[in-house]
Amino acid sequence: TTTADLVVVSNRLPVDRSAEDDDWRRSPGGLVAALEPVLQQSGGAWVGWPGQPGAEIEPFTFDGMALVPVVLSEEDVELYYEGFSNDTIWPLYHDVISPPAYHREWWDAYVRVNRRFAEAAASVAAEGATVWVQDYQLQLVPSLLRELRPDVTIGYFHHIPFPAYGLYAQLPWRKQVLSGLLGADVIGFQRVADAGNFARAVRRQLGYETKAGSIKVPRTEAEGGGTRTAIAKAYPISIDVAAYDELARRPDVQARAKEIRESLGNPKTVLFGVDRLDYTKGIGHRLKAYGELLADGRLDVEDVTLVQVASPSRERVAAYMQLRDEIELTVGRINGDYDTVGHTAIRYLHHSYPREEMVALYLAADVMLVTALRDGMNLVAKEYIASRVDGGGVLILSEFTGAADELTQAVRVNPHDIAGLKDAITAAIEMPEAERRRRMRALRRRVRDHDVSDWSRSFLGDLALRSGEAATS
Ligand code: G6P
Repeated sequence: TTTADLVVVSNRLPVDRSAEDDDWRRSPGGLVAALEPVLQQSGGAWVGWPGQPGAEIEPFTFDGMALVPVVLSEEDVELYYEGFSNDTIWPLYHDVISPPAYHREWWDAYVRVNRRFAEAAASVAAEGATVWVQDYQLQLVPSLLRELRPDVTIGYFHHIPFPAYGLYAQLPWRKQVLSGLLGADVIGFQRVADAGNFARAVRRQLGYETKAGSIKVPRTEAEGGGTRTAIAKAYPISIDVAAYDELARRPDVQARAKEIRESLGNPKTVLFGVDRLDYTKGIGHRLKAYGELLADGRLDVEDVTLVQVASPSRERVAAYMQLRDEIELTVGRINGDYDTVGHTAIRYLHHSYPREEMVALYLAADVMLVTALRDGMNLVAKEYIASRVDGGGVLILSEFTGAADELTQAVRVNPHDIAGLKDAITAAIEMPEAERRRRMRALRRRVRDHDVSDWSRSFLGDLALRSGEAATS
């Protein structure tokens, strides 16, 4: 087997297999777009789950990247992915919006599966390679990999929030998870606050010395004793801005945006929300505010329509099933109460769409609603801005997103404050053109200057510095 100098490890491989023709296709996510050029240049490899339980698939090459599938059994998917990853860590790290469940069998499966990912990475990493581990499903991989391969430089990036200490402390395996992450040389977070929460948990739980994002980690006997330094720092992720820009300038995409508005009956205002159907996204809060505005008579279905795309997600996890029922009940009630024969209050779409269609929807939307209760970054906010090549549109953005740290010219909201959210929606609808354009210009400048390639370059740059230091120490 061949080995690679750069290895990316993530729960999912960056490809999906289509049901019709069994062909692999690049997944729509931004991470692929960011890392593919880097991997192609360095002849890199990507280790991950192909997304189907039980599928035994041999390593293969896709667009110049070596893809190394990790097999998950039906039981692994249930205990490691749906259980510990998405019913323990996900809700705990998103401020317990939904109560996390703590089950020892889930933890055991998480350890077991993380070991399998670490072994797969160890088997493809060349001598002295760089291995970049992605996200909360794989928090133990850094330390497990370090044991197997002390010669490699290890990075970890955490795409979701890292919670405040008081919440993190609930986790029965809180020490093991911190030690798992500290196997990395660089531990990246979305926000400065996340890196701070992590450092505090390390101090409180492990008693290690931390200073301005440098953490002194004791070396094991096998590593020769003493301490080494791990870095915990913010690297806010972004999107492939040029790709959105290009799509948004395409005449067929612009024509599609017009067509969308026409098919909605050419309302004065199109409000738009798009989220994975997840309880962190504050979809219910958004619907409540909108429903009340219709009830108050401050909005009228003759003038306004809300398009809500909710893409199916984690459909076998109970909290997600329950959320779907709640949202669909609320949408049905609002539409039942306020629709007229010719106008609908909410156009609800439980699908995911290709990027072209998303960009057309962004172009068709006067006001974009991002009302997450907690979100690591929220790339929808950035996609909307990157798509508005016409300089129009207003972004309403929850202050509980990582994006809010950067996108300061958005209309900021606290989604828990329904009265405030209602005022923000009407203010956005009525915002004078000059102010709208001024804000969007500033937002576009920010997004243009911080592309996803800057994100990967700065993370890998810091990682290369660490490997240099390790070599000379
Ligand atoms: C979030 C996580 C990713 C995850 C994605 C989709 O963005 O940070 O790690 O891949 O959601 O969720 P899924 O469970 O379908 O992979």
